[in-house]
Amino acid sequence: MATERTYIMLKPDCVKRGLIGEVIARIERKGYRIIDAKMMRLNEPVLREHYAHLADKPFFPDIVSYMMSGPVLGMIVEGENAVLGMRILMGATKFEEAAAGTIRGDFASSTSENIIHGSDSAENAEIEIKRFFG
Ligand code: CDP
Ligand code: MG
Repeated sequence: MATERTYIMLKPDCVKRGLIGEVIARIERKGYRIIDAKMMRLNEPVLREHYAHLADKPFFPDIVSYMMSGPVLGMIVEGENAVLGMRILMGATKFEEAAAGTIRGDFASSTSENIIHGSDSAENAEIEIKRFFG
């Protein structure tokens, strides 16, 4: 076990639906600490960089416009094995596979509008924290 930092982002649907408190409560109840947070409006260049691994997918333009549709809350979350632990708390990417009891399983309304982003590796966490918090 190791203390890790991960980049978490509450997406525009989470903010619009008034679910920030609910999601943060789940993160804190698990024992993770929010060590920095900021509301942001993301621009296209940063989203193209953040979602570069999906650039050739047909839904790429939809992700970019969805992520620009309203403010997001970016956070640095810290705790024991926080990178994998947050992915488990979040639930699967695919809407139909996200288990009940996970954040996406309980709140996501589709695969694209899925409430929350979390880094998928320690290496990407470092890159994403730098990208959004400098
Ligand atoms: O967010 P996560 O790391 O679980 O999945 P990803 O493969 O990195 O995809 C990033 C985001 O693209 C997802 O969270 C969805 O919002 C969106 N996406 C989508 O709209 N349709 C897919 N088939 C896959 C991803
Ligand atoms: Mg991802």
